[in-house]
Amino acid sequence: MAHVVADLLSDTVTKPTPAMRQAMARAEVGDDVFGEDPTLRTLEERVAGLLGHEAGLFTPSGSMANQLGVRLHAGPGVELIADSLAHVVRAELGAAAALSGITSRTWVAEAGRFRAEDATSLMITGVGPYQVCTGVVVVENTHNFGGGTVQSLEEIRAAREATRAAGVAMHLDGARLWNAHVATGVPLEDYGRAFDTVSVCLSKGLGAPVGSVLVGSSEAIAEARVWRKRFGGGMRQAGILAAAGLYALDHNIERLRDDHERAHRAAEAIAEAAPGSLDPDSVQTNILIADVSAAGWSAADFVAAALDAGVRLYAVGAAKVRFVWHLDVDDAATDHAISVVRDLMLLRTRERTVQGRTGR
Ligand SMILES: Cc1ncc(COP(=O)(O)O)c(C=O)c1O
Repeated sequence: MAHVVADLLSDTVTKPTPAMRQAMARAEVGDDVFGEDPTLRTLEERVAGLLGHEAGLFTPSGSMANQLGVRLHAGPGVELIADSLAHVVRAELGAAAALSGITSRTWVAEAGRFRAEDATSLMITGVGPYQVCTGVVVVENTHNFGGGTVQSLEEIRAAREATRAAGVAMHLDGARLWNAHVATGVPLEDYGRAFDTVSVCLSKGLGAPVGSVLVGSSEAIAEARVWRKRFGGGMRQAGILAAAGLYALDHNIERLRDDHERAHRAAEAIAEAAPGSLDPDSVQTNILIADVSAAGWSAADFVAAALDAGVRLYAVGAAKVRFVWHLDVDDAATDHAISVVRDLMLLRTRERTVQGRTGR
């Protein structure tokens, strides 16, 4: 494997910086299962405050924060509904069913874009002898497999009104809510208050090595604390991880703007090299998904060829490739990635032109 110059596999690949490690080393810690870790308490309170909720709970992963969130609003024989590309239904290994007996139904959303009507028309409420009951609607913002899509607050609020009237809860998978906030300027609190529970990740674009936080009412979070222990997520001196999260909140939110700009610059170059592969205007945050079949490639071959040239990418299905910017990919690495991807795209286009001319 070639030396990786631009690791665009995911924003989860970041490594803690020396300054973040120093903050971790200095952290005051205690046994959190006994509620004695002061740094963890500080992080939980801070994130809850940022999102306009009463309380927060640190978890080892975004998946656990999501699974605790949905567990609070649904249980065996009750369903969650979400779009078909949502992380909670597509990439958490069936955890809602495996751990909580929750069934899932989905709607199809173009680029993962949330529309209130899609969700509310799917809800089933009222107890009947045949139909499953909807416990919770899950919204993902930004939307990972949709291509970093930012959700409309208006649509979220419309859904909130309808779900509240129907007695259905709303959970936000806000693994990358920070990116939505930076891209739109919408306060985190405005997004947060539109949901019963919200999960956010510190280990994606914010660059912490581990950790997510679930926020909600004091009562909901007290219950989540019990479920977290049942799920095996009770931690001891985890303040050392919380310190990385606090450092990330202090230093790494506003800089997400740089990731968005780099993603947009790359999107323009890719669209120019391979028209039809993506619309640069659809790239709103740090993720772009390109249809490499527009340049005659399969996703798997493109990813392998890019890796040989030092660019690590992720194949999403047969024809699409995902690129994710983060704090370990600077301008120089972005330039390298753009030049490699442009060459690969143009290579196939040239090969096809030659084949067309020679009839082969
Ligand atoms: C949108 C979204 N939600 C949740 C998660 C889960 O996070 P974790 O990998 O920490 O379980 C991810 C991970 O990439 C994600 O992209």
